[in-house]
Amino acid sequence: MGNVVILGAGGRLGAALARNWSATGENVIAFDRRTLSLGDPDLLEQVLGPIEFDSLVNCAALTNVDYCETHQEEAFKVNGEAANDVALLCEQKGARCLHISTDYVFDGNSATPYKESDIPVPISVYGASKRLGEEAVLAVGPRHWVVRVSWVFGPDRVSFVDQVVARALVEDKVDAVDNKWASPTYTLDAATLLLPFLERVPGGGTLHLANEGACTWREYGQFALDCAAENGLALKTFRVGGVPMESIKAFVAKRPVHSVLDSTKLASLGRIPPRPWKEAVREYIQKQVAAGVWNAPKA
Ligand SMILES: NC(=O)c1ccc[n+]([C@@H]2O[C@H](COP(=O)([O-])OP(=O)(O)OC[C@H]3O[C@@H](n4cnc5c(N)ncnc54)[C@H](OP(=O)(O)O)[C@@H]3O)[C@@H](O)[C@H]2O)c1
Repeated sequence: MGNVVILGAGGRLGAALARNWSATGENVIAFDRRTLSLGDPDLLEQVLGPIEFDSLVNCAALTNVDYCETHQEEAFKVNGEAANDVALLCEQKGARCLHISTDYVFDGNSATPYKESDIPVPISVYGASKRLGEEAVLAVGPRHWVVRVSWVFGPDRVSFVDQVVARALVEDKVDAVDNKWASPTYTLDAATLLLPFLERVPGGGTLHLANEGACTWREYGQFALDCAAENGLALKTFRVGGVPMESIKAFVAKRPVHSVLDSTKLASLGRIPPRPWKEAVREYIQKQVAAGVWNAPKA
């Protein structure tokens, strides 16, 4: 396989893809925000123009939903316009672009999981800016993929599951939202499932890629604590209490209530379907405990 460029390689998903694919022998050329800051098409051309590559995965994005809500211009520039610039450059080079996107392009009003054919209706600046990026990538040419993930977790950057475990180690009470549903996505599973899309899977379009099943933030956190306890962590609390999303005063942006992704298209493309989210979370917590991530600091 030819070279694969990864943008956003300092982030949770980009770092996992870069490490895993390098380990399996791919020729990965990784850029983080320091080495390639998106938003300036001339800089993009200057940095990527001289490099030969067959595929590029764009994991770079402004991902803080509340920050985007109050920094609209920057959000649209990075998540929308820069996605267009990246895809155009890929098209010029005859390379495939895999653009990572989000369940937040949906309004969350569907009672059933979202399929790729469902119409996006973003309800936040983040969602709208990511949708702009999706539309741009898909308009550039038929060989490119928009890959939507949700509730991304993995060893390269702390996310909700890590925070719940860390809090339960020191606090008597841990709460999480119990009226919002989505599907967690394990970065290491995404690395395995996305690899064939660099070259082998023909065509292009939109793909949902999340672990199978759905949960609320409370259920997700509770299962993480169950796994942490199974693995011998000395938690101060074993229960995650439920709170309504409306009670979280720090949330500036609106969030979709039910943005569960239906990832069955993968199987219809002849690929392995994602495993259930509980299996992925169990494995992750086990590995993090074994790696000593939550060991008490030595006195
Ligand atoms: N996290 C989730 O739960 C979630 C859910 C749904 C979809 N997604 C999508 O999945 C993709 C990967 O997200 P993630 O979880 O890996 O998030 P992440 O850890 O925040 O990674 C995004 C990376 O993009 C970088 N970045 C931000 N602005 C940039 C710019 N102007 N130029 C270059 N790089 C820039 C960030 O750099 P800094 O670290 O310096 O800020 C960060 O390293 C994104 O497309 C996101 O929209 C994520």
